[in-house]
Amino acid sequence: MNSDSDLQIAGDILAVQHLLQPAKEHPSTVAEFVGLARAIAADRSQWAHLVEYDATTRWYHRLRTGPGYEVWLLSWVPGQGTGMHDHGESSGVLTVLGGELTERTEKGARLLTAGAQRVFAPGYAHDVVNDSLEPAVSLHVYFPGLTDMPMHPSGCYAAGEPRESVVV
Ligand SMILES: [Fe+2]
Repeated sequence: MNSDSDLQIAGDILAVQHLLQPAKEHPSTVAEFVGLARAIAADRSQWAHLVEYDATTRWYHRLRTGPGYEVWLLSWVPGQGTGMHDHGESSGVLTVLGGELTERTEKGARLLTAGAQRVFAPGYAHDVVNDSLEPAVSLHVYFPGLTDMPMHPSGCYAAGEPRESVVV
């Protein structure tokens, strides 16, 4: 009669740990950066107490850094925007946490509501503005961390449209 338990028949469960993928401490793929942004977005305790609205400038706070990436929290009062810019050598994930933002590119405008995400590659140019009447909050993951944010000519703007030259 075999008196071994199932575990014994299967072998030592601890002996297979080397066959499992180790849990990643940091994201390293676009999908993982998107997942990181979604996880932070879903956990308001990580960011809600850090939001500040500043009528004089877009307010921003570096929420997290990791090897090769940075996570920024931004707040936008109505009318605040970035102006047309790219992100140098950085790729990024933009996630709207609350309110609404409008993203303008050479292809047109896109309304981004809470939960919306935009993923962009190096060189991608856009203008992001809070065109709504309510404040907005967004999360920005840059990989590698943002070191350059060149501004582009603003010829695509309608006359009188509010925008700022200060960017993050
Ligand atoms: Fe941007």
